[in-house]
Amino acid sequence: MADLRISKLFEVRSKIKDSYQVFQAEDLKVLIDWLSTESANIFVIDRKVADYFSTALAGLENARFIHIDADEFNKTMDYAQEIIRKLIRLDVRKNDNIVAIGGGITQDLVAYISSILFRGIEWKFIPTTLLSQCDSCIGSKSSINFDQYKNLIGTFNPPSAIYINSDFLSTLSESEIRSGIGEMLHYFFSDGFELADEVGQRFDELLVNRGALSYFISNSLRIKKTIIEIDEFDIDLRHIFNYGHTFGHAIEAITNYSIPHGQAISIGMDLANYISLKKGLLSQEDFNRMHTVLIKNLPAFRVTKENYDSYVGALSRDKKNHGNKLGCILSRGPGKLEKVFTEMDEAFKEIVLDYFTRFQN
Ligand SMILES: NC(=O)c1ccc[n+]([C@@H]2O[C@H](COP(=O)([O-])OP(=O)(O)OC[C@H]3O[C@@H](n4cnc5c(N)ncnc54)[C@H](O)[C@@H]3O)[C@@H](O)[C@H]2O)c1
Repeated sequence: MADLRISKLFEVRSKIKDSYQVFQAEDLKVLIDWLSTESANIFVIDRKVADYFSTALAGLENARFIHIDADEFNKTMDYAQEIIRKLIRLDVRKNDNIVAIGGGITQDLVAYISSILFRGIEWKFIPTTLLSQCDSCIGSKSSINFDQYKNLIGTFNPPSAIYINSDFLSTLSESEIRSGIGEMLHYFFSDGFELADEVGQRFDELLVNRGALSYFISNSLRIKKTIIEIDEFDIDLRHIFNYGHTFGHAIEAITNYSIPHGQAISIGMDLANYISLKKGLLSQEDFNRMHTVLIKNLPAFRVTKENYDSYVGALSRDKKNHGNKLGCILSRGPGKLEKVFTEMDEAFKEIVLDYFTRFQN
């Protein structure tokens, strides 16, 4: 492996396939040339990534590949079927490997297809966004949207190998970097305050100096790994990683996904913290120090009296709810998250509107 300039970062223990490996790949072209020599590999590539990295991906010209459009509205069973048809045209076989090259959308589609095609086919993943490098690449989940429901359908199906290459970060927009930072912050706050604080202090630097992100990517994956190895199937402990997500998903839904995922969950975490403060779970001091970090990553969005009903409508469709109660993760301070079921009554409405009146742009 040494001449491939690939080093093993770590291994994730899994109940599905014993374990899978996460590698750091220093040279993208060398990695792609090597993968394309294996005739069993079929590549499913985000079209934008194929354009940006055409030189490094040139080796794929002699391999079997498909380009896809990584759009949240394509994360559907219909689009998955379209990809399966293309794979069949490429003569896909049970013992082939699908190699996904793209962000979380490409990953979710390929992971889902790989778990149903021939009742299971191996896949590998080259994550190309900050979010997919620091978070989604490990953890086994695949998620497909259904009608207005985000991530309603899915399976647990980890790739057999993940290759992280930092060149991909150079072409991401600031908005995509902010999205990845939001996702990293939710791991950091679930762990304590130190790493989140460091992100806050170095926030402006991280938006431009993409090389500095590697340290935070590996810490984010390290925190996620400790929990998913215990609760891979998201039965209890892993629920803490829904922190910010319940409130964030509802923002994504009512804005037609115009706000990138990790930015929406930055608002989601800040709102969850505010609800925690108002419920007496979180001290003002802890709210303030987390808010100081999160405010740097909040996109312009408000819940107002006018859109409150559609926001609560989206919250009420969350798959983690019990009856009429909203299942969400609240905070007792950095490193101290807990699952709470809360009524969406008048008091809840006041807290939500109060939060958006006080703190949003
Ligand atoms: N399965 C999981 O565990 C998991 C976890 C978190 C999020 N997700 C899902 O991931 C999705 C969000 O994923 P995401 O933010 O990684 O990216 P994405 O796949 O949504 O891509 C975002 C945009 O960036 C473009 N892009 C990708 N790589 C690029 C690069 N290197 N340079 C320039 N542009 C590039 C894409 O074409 C797209 O326009 C959501 O659907 C979310 O639900 C899944």
